[in-house]
Amino acid sequence: MIRRKNIIKIAIDSPAAAGAGTLAKLLSKHYNLFHLDTGKIYRFIAYLKIKFPNKFSQNFLKSKIKSLKTKDLASKTLLSNNVSYEASLISKKKSIRKIVHSFQLNFAYNPPKKYKGSCLDGRDITYKIIPDADFKFYITANIKTRALRRFKELRKQNKKISYNEVLKSIKNRDKNDLNRKISPLKKTKDSLLINTTNLTKRACFLKIKKIIDKKLDINGNL
Ligand code: C5P
Repeated sequence: MIRRKNIIKIAIDSPAAAGAGTLAKLLSKHYNLFHLDTGKIYRFIAYLKIKFPNKFSQNFLKSKIKSLKTKDLASKTLLSNNVSYEASLISKKKSIRKIVHSFQLNFAYNPPKKYKGSCLDGRDITYKIIPDADFKFYITANIKTRALRRFKELRKQNKKISYNEVLKSIKNRDKNDLNRKISPLKKTKDSLLINTTNLTKRACFLKIKKIIDKKLDINGNL
């Protein structure tokens, strides 16, 4: 695998709906980094499993991942509650994580030339995918706040779901993600903990920007 030298690498881990995706997007735009929301890949696989239950095999998956375009990951279908839950189930499987792993490495270490680096968010980014990241963050928020944020997001998309259903689903996913044997969600010692419960998106972005800017020169390089 090609590894570009002197690029900025940001790794973010977080439980569901803590605001990591939004933050990663804002940071990527500001620092001109290539952004990958790795949860979307697991969601895409979960979607394939639901849509093509009879075709779902290693080879089928490998070919789908190989031809995967970033626009495939932008589909709103991937945000539904059943896709979310299925994603937290299939992501426990070693064979699936292996396929996703190499795909992620390429994004992290060899982002397209027009970008100054990469920013990935997920569950195992800080210790498995980019252990040598220049900046590592663990983003969290209390569970009720996370559920409310996801509930509002789904409501905006006209999804018929109650707050309590969303809360239950997030609790189940947390349980799966934190307790699985392979690549569980955890905060590494070298990650900075950011609790977004009482922070607006902007306040959270500015807090992290301040931390990053301290390590960059006036040209925005490491
Ligand atoms: O981040 P998001 O909620 O979209 O992730 C969906 C699911 O994909 C998570 O609940 C988790 O089980 C799985 N996931 C993972 N490892 C990652 C990113 C997501 O296991 N790096």
